[in-house]
Amino acid sequence: MSKKIFSGVQPSGNLHLGNYLGAIKNFVELQNEKDSECVYCIVDLHAITVKQNPNELKKNIKETLATFIASGLDPKKSIIFNQSSVSAHSEGAWILSCVARMGWLNRMTQFKEKAGKDKEKASIGLYAYPVLMAADILLYDATHVPVGNDQKQHLELCRDIAQRFNNDFNSPDFLKVPEPLIQKHFSRIMSLKDGTKKMSKSDPSDLSRINLTDEKDEIINKIKKAKTDTMSMPGSGENLSKRPEVENLLGIYASLSSQDLKDTIKQFSGKNFSEFKENLSELVVEKINPISNEIKKLLDDETYLSNILFEGFQKADKIASKKIKLMKEIIGF
Ligand code: AMP
Ligand code: TRP
Repeated sequence: MSKKIFSGVQPSGNLHLGNYLGAIKNFVELQNEKDSECVYCIVDLHAITVKQNPNELKKNIKETLATFIASGLDPKKSIIFNQSSVSAHSEGAWILSCVARMGWLNRMTQFKEKAGKDKEKASIGLYAYPVLMAADILLYDATHVPVGNDQKQHLELCRDIAQRFNNDFNSPDFLKVPEPLIQKHFSRIMSLKDGTKKMSKSDPSDLSRINLTDEKDEIINKIKKAKTDTMSMPGSGENLSKRPEVENLLGIYASLSSQDLKDTIKQFSGKNFSEFKENLSELVVEKINPISNEIKKLLDDETYLSNILFEGFQKADKIASKKIKLMKEIIGF
């Protein structure tokens, strides 16, 4: 049976090496598998759960699309589209919000983290966001959803919502219960400045991350300044978790070279950090530079990018509007 893949990325700008290794590289591999049908969505409806500047949002949608294409997603092979263009997502989210229970949403840890101390001031959208995510997935009968570890709980909620809908409306198997696809290795790329924090676009220090649009010199400088420790390069993976910064840099090297971490450790054992960092810089530049050059080129070609989104919209809308029509019939509309 073919795998139906669905995943989404928020257009919040500044995509970095963590997004690439934790998500986009994986999207490309799934796209190139035999027997897979992939749908990749730029989730702008999710982005507005927190305040956005309209011009920035527009720019970030384009940048996310350009990053997808520059990284190897192919609009001929995958459906690539913008969430707000397909109205079934909003409709589905409303219907499913009448199926999901408050008690389920109250358990979502990401809401608690994002809303912070002042929950009363968070938007209702931020609270209901996992229901919209469930609609995204269920409209396409996705069988597999590649996500980072932080989205695992939302995916469990999506499975609960699907089962509850099928039960409540006595329509067994109508909504397909999806499986998460969580990368085993390198699913969390850490900050270059603090190995216990995730590499993130919201970190105030730009030195903490490698942006996919960074120039060669910036990459070299950031890796040179990346935190390490006073010990020598490790000879084995033992106790490496006590050296999170070193583990992270070795992990980035292994992941970018599609090598086992064990082999990377062996390769640099006994060498000094500066030599390792030089090798790492070369590798990051070799892998990231072509992507960043391509992003810049694509951003100059507005027509090409809009055409991709339009074609993606047509294909996605065909699938999603059919599903939402059936869903409405089942409900009694
Ligand atoms: P975000 O930009 O947080 O919406 O994330 C987009 C995708 O990139 C999600 O699948 C995340 O799990 C993944 N991601 C974000 N930051 C990292 C990171 N530091 N390491 C690995 N994956 C990440
Ligand atoms: N919530 C996801 C994130 O913040 C993005 C997302 C929205 C998504 N809809 C999705 C991911 C559907 C997978 C499937 O990263």
